[in-house]
Amino acid sequence: MDRTILEFLKNHREDYVSGEAMSRHMGVSRTAVWKHIKELKKRGYQIESSSRKGYRLLGEPDLFTSDELSLGMPTRYLGKNVICFETIGSTNNYIKEHADQLPEGTLLVSEEQKTGRGRLGREWTSPSGKGIWMSLLLKPEISPQEAPKITQIAAAALIETVKGLYGLDVKVKWPNDIVINGKKVCGILTEMGAELDRVNHIVLGIGVNANIDAFSGELADKATSLKIETGHSLDRKEFLFYFLKELELLLDRFFEEGDFESSLNICRNHSAVIGRKVWINPKEGFVEVLATGINDDGELVVQYEDGRVKTVLSGEVSIRAENGYI
Ligand code: BTN
Repeated sequence: MDRTILEFLKNHREDYVSGEAMSRHMGVSRTAVWKHIKELKKRGYQIESSSRKGYRLLGEPDLFTSDELSLGMPTRYLGKNVICFETIGSTNNYIKEHADQLPEGTLLVSEEQKTGRGRLGREWTSPSGKGIWMSLLLKPEISPQEAPKITQIAAAALIETVKGLYGLDVKVKWPNDIVINGKKVCGILTEMGAELDRVNHIVLGIGVNANIDAFSGELADKATSLKIETGHSLDRKEFLFYFLKELELLLDRFFEEGDFESSLNICRNHSAVIGRKVWINPKEGFVEVLATGINDDGELVVQYEDGRVKTVLSGEVSIRAENGYI
């Protein structure tokens, strides 16, 4: 019932809606409507009540709830099944554990993660209400070798979102770090369940440092947030919806038309590493090379000092830049 009332208020945002109209629409008494409005207010919705004109929705809480997310979800399949937690260990772990029972496109968002994971076994700091900590379940018909492409498609969608919403100069530190002013703002952790020749599922985990005020310790030089970069708090739901729409568009192009190029070009045009000296970490230890490009399969092309050219896969490398993080 709260959801129906919420939907009604959202659909009539510009006007007041009378208690009478709502009670008719919902088939309940005006007192019942009033009680539900009171409940919504308790949950943080700002609703103006006027005895003459009725009710008007003025503001919504900055909370990820399945009502909030499912009511405005602008996509065809991504996030159509949405699960929200206040706290969890890791959203990726949950989706991995339940992948067989959950439909393709399932989105899990948690306000907080207690044991959020980054790549290479690193920890991912996920404070409550300050970020977008999410995992998406995909069940594409692709080979395991193609799975790293999903990371780059997600990186492209993140770039389009940060540029489209805030006009910031955003880059991708191949393959999975989104950076602004040389500091990391989003990370991507793509994991898969697969057989030798076929993917069963992919868990696309994404962390967005949205409204974090400051970083301390070793993160201070390496991490930033959209709030720090824009100078104001942002609407996390707006970010999430924009991102999911971009991602769905780019995934559709890839899965339906075989077009990976669109995503690649976004990553190439916003690369933080192409044309720069970086260190790769093959078995023999850190070696300085020049990153010369990203090939059509999404692999980084590097040139050694002696002129040898090689491509590196995301799993094999960690890239360090000349000074500090990037
Ligand atoms: C990285 O940059 O190393 C990847 C960071 C990925 C973090 C996200 S937050 C949501 C999802 N759940 C996790 O445990 N990790 C990913």
